[in-house]
Amino acid sequence: MAIPESVKEVVIKSGIVDLYPPQEEAIKAGALDGRNLVLASPTASGKTLVAEFCALKHIVEAGGKTIYLTPLRALASEKFDEFKKYASIEKKDGKRVRIGISTGDFDSTDTWLERYDIIIATNEKADSLLRHRAKWMDEISLVVADEVHLLNDSERGPTLEVVLARLMQVNPDMQVLALSATINNVDEIAEWLKASHITTEWRPVSLREGILLQDEIQYKDGDARKIERKTKDSALNLALNTVKNGGQALIFASTRKNAATLAKRIAVEIQQILSKPVRRALEHEAERILAAGERTRISESLAELVRCGTAFHHAGLGGGHRKIIEGSFREGKIKVLTATPTLAFGVNLPARTVVIQDYKRYEAGYGYYPISVLEYKQMAGRAGRPKYDKVGEAILIAKTADEADYLLESYVLGRPERIWSRLAVERILRSHVLATIAADFAHTEQGLFEFFGRTFYAHQYDTDAIKGIIAKILKYLYDEEMIEVFGSDINATRFGKRVSELYIDPVSAVIIRDTFKKKPAHLTDLSLLHMIAHTPDMGPVMRPYSSEMDELTLFMEEHREEFLTEVPNEWDDRIDYEEFLGEVKTAMVLKGWIEEMSEDLVIDKFRVQPGDLYRAIENAKWLLHSTHELAVLFGAKEVLLETVELMVRVEKGVKKELLTLAKLEGVGRVRGRIMYNAGYKTIEDLKHAPIEDLMNLPLIGSVLTKKIKEQVGGFVKKKTWERLEREDVWKQKALTEY
Ligand SMILES: Nc1ncnc2c1ncn2[C@@H]1O[C@H](COP(=O)(O)OP(=O)(O)OP(=O)(O)O)[C@@H](O)[C@H]1O
Ligand SMILES: [Mg+2]
Repeated sequence: MAIPESVKEVVIKSGIVDLYPPQEEAIKAGALDGRNLVLASPTASGKTLVAEFCALKHIVEAGGKTIYLTPLRALASEKFDEFKKYASIEKKDGKRVRIGISTGDFDSTDTWLERYDIIIATNEKADSLLRHRAKWMDEISLVVADEVHLLNDSERGPTLEVVLARLMQVNPDMQVLALSATINNVDEIAEWLKASHITTEWRPVSLREGILLQDEIQYKDGDARKIERKTKDSALNLALNTVKNGGQALIFASTRKNAATLAKRIAVEIQQILSKPVRRALEHEAERILAAGERTRISESLAELVRCGTAFHHAGLGGGHRKIIEGSFREGKIKVLTATPTLAFGVNLPARTVVIQDYKRYEAGYGYYPISVLEYKQMAGRAGRPKYDKVGEAILIAKTADEADYLLESYVLGRPERIWSRLAVERILRSHVLATIAADFAHTEQGLFEFFGRTFYAHQYDTDAIKGIIAKILKYLYDEEMIEVFGSDINATRFGKRVSELYIDPVSAVIIRDTFKKKPAHLTDLSLLHMIAHTPDMGPVMRPYSSEMDELTLFMEEHREEFLTEVPNEWDDRIDYEEFLGEVKTAMVLKGWIEEMSEDLVIDKFRVQPGDLYRAIENAKWLLHSTHELAVLFGAKEVLLETVELMVRVEKGVKKELLTLAKLEGVGRVRGRIMYNAGYKTIEDLKHAPIEDLMNLPLIGSVLTKKIKEQVGGFVKKKTWERLEREDVWKQKALTEY
């Protein structure tokens, strides 16, 4: 194989000695000769390794640069860990290969990335870097687009196609390697990318697909087998069957609630068949769950489930908890995991048995609809752990014989759908049109059409179809003063440029700017929090429950004077009104958070799950940063300070008085409050605080005390310091052993 010896060594050392068939095919198709390629093959068939070979060949032999695009942050960090093993390899210039990851802050050029050879980024981050015209992006010689079938995703697909189109425009000689699940129109994607394509059905562990009706599984190949019917719940029976035979099961449920309820029912049954050592290991995992983040009823119930070898996994969980659960499932400690379909792509979590409890999905406003074959195949593909299982099973649950037939026909024997570009939607296209002008990719209407003519959309349809929408968007951007027009020339104004860089929807920017003109009777935290909750970038509003309506209405009336946007009339437009109440709810949640309401109380009072709270916090931080930046641009002095302070408070979840303490490393809102209430209110207080007193505060202890003293300075007797050091070592040791 034409790759550097040093790379081979690293790969062999990692335990890989032979190539999987799809890898061989990819190499035969010229992946290592710089040819563009779309590789479509099933889950866990080793697509990443092909990308690793290509990347290292570019870097070590030709001094090139690789960008690896993933759709999710979690996936980016998984890939980063995989690439790290190459960091010891020497390049031609004698320097070692450097691997970088970039997923955060969208308002930055990240010039430091220049020094890296492989950069792993989310599609959104890459898009934002292109908007900032990060110089190093012109030097990319290989782009890897992972999970390229996501072009079909209405939210994330358009970003991916715009990024690929731009990269190909900037670097015409760049090699493109796209990795995909098996889909119907690989050829079409390949044509768009000027690539050849390979489709394989090869899997490292063979897959048996089937349908479970009552106590009998009917397999695709005509075989059948019976399982013990211990309870009325088929998914549960199947999972029990797998665990009894020494395997693990992954169950996909349609909603978060179903996933959680099912996990509870399973825990009761599984608990009885766990061995002592397994229980002990699980006890440790449960403790880790409780130690991660604030203690809430969710973390408690999750820990209880983990003790019984079970867990649930969905977007309502905080990232810390999700990571622990993924880890213990991978290590075989957790036996049954219930999950919503978000887990179906990307994150590497195989199980011997995959159960698809429900082929219908609910979406607010749409009702129930059957999932796509592509989605089914992605879930089914998780079945079978290489090295542990000889065969993987993916089973759909049917309630009637008719349904069993339907499922067999449509899913098990079904072909995945074609994937379609989702770009031509005004809401989506708006920011891409602005960015194309603002980042100097085009300066005329013709140039815009040319650029969008390079997208997957134009390849599948026709640019004419998109021209009408672009014209409409241009008018909007012109009316809102984000672009200027001189003859046929279109240029971005300073406002337009900044909006594009801030990576927010132009509609959000207009909402923010317009509030600078208004002078509310009272400008409060609530004013700003509600204003950002009103922007489309805040994401879906937190829907109020009917039981909350009265309270929200009352709250809204009491605070009417503080809102920066018009309050819709309840009787004129019910939908707008309820949407508004949802925004008020989001603002109330954030307000509760910065008033130091405990996570548990937020969950209880607003019925908002931690994952949703963290997402709201992330978005709020971003929008407050954007508000601040636009306030600088428009000279809106009234909100300059407010926004900065609010941003830090939202980040830390604290009242104003706690800002200094919460910024200390290892402190945070809960411990900060404990110290504050004990009389240590400033850095100066901490500097003079006797070590013993700090150590004896609840949740603080010697390790943190040392860390605090290191940060704030202050005199410590040598003897005391030595003792702390000793305790520190001892504690660290206890922690690692544990
Ligand atoms: N030739 C090989 N021999 C043994 N193990 C391999 C080989 N190639 C890859 N693997 C292992 O197979 C696992 C799955 O590979 P990878 O993550 O690349 O799958 P994938 O094709 O990208 O699947 P997905 O569609 O789920 O992303 C990894 O743990 C990897 O280390
Ligand atoms: Mg992959």
